[in-house]
Amino acid sequence: MSDYYWDDQMEYLRNTRWLYYNDDYLEFLVQRVWKIENPVDLIDYGCGYGYLGLKLLPLLPEGSTYTGLDKGKELIKQAREIFSKTSYQTTFIVDDIETVKVKRQYDVAISHAFLLHMTEPITVLQKMIESVVDEGRMICFEPHWIANMSNYELHGLDQSNIIQLGILQKLFEEDSKRNGKDGNIGMKLPILLSQLGLRNVECRVSDKVNFLDQNMAGSDKQKLFQALKEEGLGQKPNARQEVVTPLVERGLHSDEANRQYEAEDVFAREFNESSWLTYAPNMKITSGIVTR
Ligand SMILES: C[S@@+](CC[C@H](N)C(=O)[O-])C[C@H]1O[C@@H](n2cnc3c(N)ncnc32)[C@H](O)[C@@H]1O
Repeated sequence: MSDYYWDDQMEYLRNTRWLYYNDDYLEFLVQRVWKIENPVDLIDYGCGYGYLGLKLLPLLPEGSTYTGLDKGKELIKQAREIFSKTSYQTTFIVDDIETVKVKRQYDVAISHAFLLHMTEPITVLQKMIESVVDEGRMICFEPHWIANMSNYELHGLDQSNIIQLGILQKLFEEDSKRNGKDGNIGMKLPILLSQLGLRNVECRVSDKVNFLDQNMAGSDKQKLFQALKEEGLGQKPNARQEVVTPLVERGLHSDEANRQYEAEDVFAREFNESSWLTYAPNMKITSGIVTR
């Protein structure tokens, strides 16, 4: 066990990333949307074990390099081990985005599920931009939790039985006002990047809709069900009071906190390997050109 939360989340990261994008969609983004035709030096902030590097390097022109920066020593150790078995040119750095000094040397700076954890996302974005050469590119793959939450169908139940959108909307907004961390940042990034001086800013939505199909092969079904559980779908809540008290501290009224507990409880009781379920993570992918 490490003292640092993310160093113990390797299994979660490895088991859930494949829920977000189809490989052909990433290829479409690289080749048709961003049109990256020459080798690039890429830096991935909050890279974890290097998920995006593993996905993007095979799609980028030969000679491209990947630098991954993360605060997690264990995650970087795993990343080094994983990439040592490939022929890609990589560099891994253990550092904290809040204190690291960056040099203007990369063609592309990316993040994946990283900015939502920042208490001062604009300062972090400025630092990321600072590390990109003139006419280079920023690409942020970040969540939009409230859209994510509205993208479930559990067959046989009204969606409102398992997801309380209004309550969650309030909770996410209250959380971000309190600590700066914003699970809806994906939808704000086009505005923020343009306001920070980037040009040709555009935003796409992740393409993947996961389908727990009762007609699919048993092993595929089991793998998808486990990944969805790890992603947080239908996880059994703690005892009512252990859920309700923190929710009230985070700004919900007691009746809202109780309704949230009940929705989580129904989801956990009803969702199992025999369920028919569709779920789209609804990540937002924002890109823009650094112009000075
Ligand atoms: C949700 S994980 C995403 C990891 C990876 N991008 C992925 O999608 O698999 C968030 C990552 O941000 C990293 N992180 C959080 N705060 C950080 C900081 N201040 N400096 C550098 N990395 C940080 C964590 O260590 C973790 O690996």
